[in-house]
Amino acid sequence: MIDVKEIRKHFKVYEKYPDLVYLDSAASALKLDSVVKSMTDYMQFNGSNVHRGVYKLSYDATEEYESTRGVVANFINAKSEEIVFTRGTTDSLNMLAQSYGLNNINEGDEIISSVLEHHSSQMPWLNVANKKKAVLKYVNLIDNKITIEEFKKVLSSKTKVVALTHVSNVLGYVTPIKEIIKLAHEVGAIVIVDAAQSVPHMKVDVKDLDCDFLAFSGHKLMGPTGVGVLYGKKKLLDDIEPVDFGGDMAEDVYTDHMSYKDAPYKFEAGTPMIAEVIALKEAIKFISSIGLDNIYEHELKLKNLAIEKLSEIPNIEIYNKDTSTGVISFNIKGCHPHDAASVYDKNNICIRAGHHCAELIMHHLQVVGTVRASFYLYNDENDVYEFVKATKEAVEFFSMFDL
Ligand SMILES: Cc1ncc(COP(=O)(O)O)c(C=O)c1O
Repeated sequence: MIDVKEIRKHFKVYEKYPDLVYLDSAASALKLDSVVKSMTDYMQFNGSNVHRGVYKLSYDATEEYESTRGVVANFINAKSEEIVFTRGTTDSLNMLAQSYGLNNINEGDEIISSVLEHHSSQMPWLNVANKKKAVLKYVNLIDNKITIEEFKKVLSSKTKVVALTHVSNVLGYVTPIKEIIKLAHEVGAIVIVDAAQSVPHMKVDVKDLDCDFLAFSGHKLMGPTGVGVLYGKKKLLDDIEPVDFGGDMAEDVYTDHMSYKDAPYKFEAGTPMIAEVIALKEAIKFISSIGLDNIYEHELKLKNLAIEKLSEIPNIEIYNKDTSTGVISFNIKGCHPHDAASVYDKNNICIRAGHHCAELIMHHLQVVGTVRASFYLYNDENDVYEFVKATKEAVEFFSMFDL
């Protein structure tokens, strides 16, 4: 059971806006006070660089920075040396495409994607496919979902990379990723999991999944913006080339050759996002103290209540009634999602409208965009009722235009 009143005490934003109805956590979660404090503590009372100073302040910063690696590793059941800090999911996924993709994919090779992908998961591989004359194949969706049967139809001995979302940011459907990974490994392909929408909301165990790479962002789990994680199996991280070269990742540098550190450090060139990495562990500690199972159950309860109430309103098209996560995508018939969003905004409700950086699924659904409400641990039933009330208001208002 989640005590939302208690949870909200950890967010200054609710002090400033007590009536805030924040339903856009799939885009970015609210930020914990402990995260903000950790960042300002580093900025005010430290400020030195990591990995290079031979003095106490820098040792302290390094220890704080590296301890986050351990906390993240523990959170997803990885080893510390398998955790690379990046700027976010987009950065992690692009880095893989630039490194693994451009070096290992050849003409005629096949890469598997889906129309459920966020642009950050699909575009880097479209780029690789175009550059290397490889074939980008898309899993056919059944009822807007990725299924094992359809995945098998696109998998072949030519498949080299499978890059799929774990949870769709538009529809919230959970991909049967564990079975997909097993099948992909049987043909020698590697699997890259876009876990931006799963890691903040459900237990993700990289060893259990046996994924090769997995990416997520700090800001979607109440941590800082500008920091993310790339998990990679150590052997694969050792084998792939870095794409950024420079300070901190170098081992020995000469005029005509160079060597660099072992993974994960070879992927962290230059001064990293020190305050952000240090503060990320506060978000993970908080989530762990509440428990991911509790968070997941809470979101699902709110989502089910919202679907039940929305279903009673005429002229609403819901695209994912049977989703098993806390995301609802819908439209008011005949009304552009941006117009609908203005009614929510007027009622202090933060909701997302548009294509959600996932145009392929918009084409598939044959819509320009959707209105998306997403729930997290600080939402309560009152948020749902306010959301439903505003939806009724929007439906009534736009029905006047006889669209
Ligand atoms: C499924 C998914 N993948 C990737 C991303 C990109 O994350 P970021 O913008 O933090 O890099 C998002 C963000 O919305 C997402 O929902």
